[in-house]
Amino acid sequence: MFSGLNNTGIMKIGYNQMMTKPEALAKLANEILADKSLPLAESNLVFGEGDPNTAVLFIGEAPGRREDELKRPFVGRSGQLLDKLISEIGWKRSEVYITNIVKRRPPDNRDPLPKEIEGYKPYLARQIEIIKPKVIATLGRFSMNYFLPQAKITRDEGKLFPAGAYFIYPLFHPAAALRSTGTLEALRQSFKRLPEAITKAEELIKTQPPTTIAESPIKQESLF
Ligand code: URA
Repeated sequence: MFSGLNNTGIMKIGYNQMMTKPEALAKLANEILADKSLPLAESNLVFGEGDPNTAVLFIGEAPGRREDELKRPFVGRSGQLLDKLISEIGWKRSEVYITNIVKRRPPDNRDPLPKEIEGYKPYLARQIEIIKPKVIATLGRFSMNYFLPQAKITRDEGKLFPAGAYFIYPLFHPAAALRSTGTLEALRQSFKRLPEAITKAEELIKTQPPTTIAESPIKQESLF
């Protein structure tokens, strides 16, 4: 395992109330299930999975059919490629955390609608806040533009961007890499540089105290 991957912590969620990260995440998942105002309620909840103490959080777009069936993110063909790329850099899928912006499957695998993204936004924000990753590795253009609206995937993939309390590392979506060998090669190279991106993010976090995403505008300035 990469030595910088673990980010253990117990969180304080209110006055004198301590919760472990798994407890806080389980509570959040139950809140989503109980929120009847959320869109796409006809599909299963695909909350996310992995090690909540990880330094790197992978975020895709929305679950597909297989993910909906198994209630797990990235378990179809894209997921198999993602697992392979993770193992190629010597990590295990169980050592990182994987989720999506939208937590239920849009019908017919269409792109999520703005109201669907808005609906799940407060829950994604809290999920990120609980996990407190050093780096958010976005999978695909959609997820990248959620955090970095001005970014362009072909120009900016494999670069590290500060975004409030976190650093964003845009990656091509594995589904795009399954369609093009050039994209697959670029994705593989960017994966290889992910440990270096985490180290860089850790160095910067030490020298520049992080602010919260809400307080700080996204700076579209790549760091490497
Ligand atoms: N594509 C995504 O963006 N997310 C998944 O969970 C699966 C495929």
